Amino acid sequence: MVRQPVGSVHVAGPVERFEPGTVTAFREGKFYLVRLADGGFLALHRQCTHLGCTVPWIAEQERFACPCHASEFDVHGEVLSPPAPRPLDLFPVRIENGIVKVDTGVPVKRATFEPSQVVRA
Ligand code: FES
Repeated sequence: MVRQPVGSVHVAGPVERFEPGTVTAFREGKFYLVRLADGGFLALHRQCTHLGCTVPWIAEQERFACPCHASEFDVHGEVLSPPAPRPLDLFPVRIENGIVKVDTGVPVKRATFEPSQVVRA
């Protein structure tokens, strides 16, 4: 059994607090909670997969744009422009009694975005 670090679960809030088609930054937890247009959730680590800079969300351009070496990622965290070698890492999301919770203990690396990564209420 893999033990989770104590205190790694971050309570983001009730599902209805997050409108579909929005990205909400959680500075403390170092993640973005994405609510996709179809209502699904993804929690993206805010750290660039190139050399680890913090990646801001640029709402007008609907992308994450790294200030360090110009990598860009889409709303699913997929790489739009290198040098980032892989999508933004994920944090596991779960929804309990209508409350969105994100486990920020260990970022999950992935090679690509897959629909199965999306968590639905
Ligand atoms: S650290 Fe983000 S592009 Fe290099």
